[in-house]
Amino acid sequence: MQKLTLHDVDVSNRRVLMRVDFNVPTEEKDGKIVITDDTRIRETLPTLRFLCEHDAKVILMAHFGRPKGKPVAKYSLAPVAERLAELLERPVEFSPETAGESVEHRVAHLQPRDVLLLENVRFHAEEEKNDPAFSQALARLGDVYVNDAFGAAHRAHASTAGVAGYIGESAMGLLMEKELKYLQEELADPPKPFVVILGGSKVSDKIGVIKALMQKADTFLIGGAMAFTFFKAQGIPIGESRVEADKLDLAREILALAKEKNVKFLLPVDSFETQEIKPGAGGRNTPRLTREKGISDGWEGVDIGKETTEIYKKEIAGARTVLWNGPVGIFEIPDFANGTFSLAKALAENRAAITIIGGGDSVTAVKQAGLAEKMTFISTGGGASLELLEGKELPGVAALSDK
Ligand code: 3PG
Repeated sequence: MQKLTLHDVDVSNRRVLMRVDFNVPTEEKDGKIVITDDTRIRETLPTLRFLCEHDAKVILMAHFGRPKGKPVAKYSLAPVAERLAELLERPVEFSPETAGESVEHRVAHLQPRDVLLLENVRFHAEEEKNDPAFSQALARLGDVYVNDAFGAAHRAHASTAGVAGYIGESAMGLLMEKELKYLQEELADPPKPFVVILGGSKVSDKIGVIKALMQKADTFLIGGAMAFTFFKAQGIPIGESRVEADKLDLAREILALAKEKNVKFLLPVDSFETQEIKPGAGGRNTPRLTREKGISDGWEGVDIGKETTEIYKKEIAGARTVLWNGPVGIFEIPDFANGTFSLAKALAENRAAITIIGGGDSVTAVKQAGLAEKMTFISTGGGASLELLEGKELPGVAALSDK
């Protein structure tokens, strides 16, 4: 069922209660919380500008961290309000309360194009319980509900889902629309060959995605620590590499499924191994991995090897759609970043392909490689993108009004 978008609702002179995902990475510097990556804030600017241009009164709600249902100073959204004001180039008011009479009073005095950010919804235990009374208290703050929080759309919470049941119209914002366009519509029938790169540490995190995409993908390129679970399942020595020892049957099941579906499921043919995971520890490329000669005892695989990198680059160069989720090595340490950054470069160089970075650490990797601008689309979701790719319905989308 198609959901309402911003273009379907009249926002002029109305109170628009909008959920955003401002769960941004921060660090503490001289006792102050500093935002280290404001991408999620920037990505809401098109929707915010649209609302301001259409004379809406904007009330923003968001979560920040996991404060477990009570106020925690370091999880206040106050620094985010400041950053948003700079980016939006207009004042952003901040309400130290999230709901209740004083907030309602404040909202009643908003003028068209005013923007008010409410304090962290997770300071209230009712938020994560999707409590009806709390959802209603939030709903009292708006005439229209807009959900632009793709990154939190897999959560069925009061501000992401419950609230929509108590407000006249609920629509998705422009960011939500864009995320669904790339991660859902484009991938429903992607231009072929469709290559999926999967990395990260655990097979168990990706099993749903692998099974769902096995129906559509032509080729999987596997990297990261999860490759070692596949190696072990095939009897290839993995030295001290990380492994999910209880997922060997699952790995064998996936390999059998790929064979049955005639899908190319490529595992690394060599690896970069080290004796210690720390900057400057160095390492060496293994020879071709076989049952007789795998990763050496006392060594740990931390990146795909040179030959694998070349094979994967070729696959990427011939693709018309590439989806990437999860780095293929510990790219945070320069010695172990070659595979991940080389693949990022191969994606950037394939101008004929739709290149989609499906969230999480692979986004950080592409940014660190300085290649973010070269990708067709980079998701702001972590868990939300994985669930969507698994084919699950996101509660934050399901709750919106049908067209
Ligand atoms: C995220 O950062 O993935 C989202 O904001 C969701 O946060 P959560 O995992 O704490 O619900």
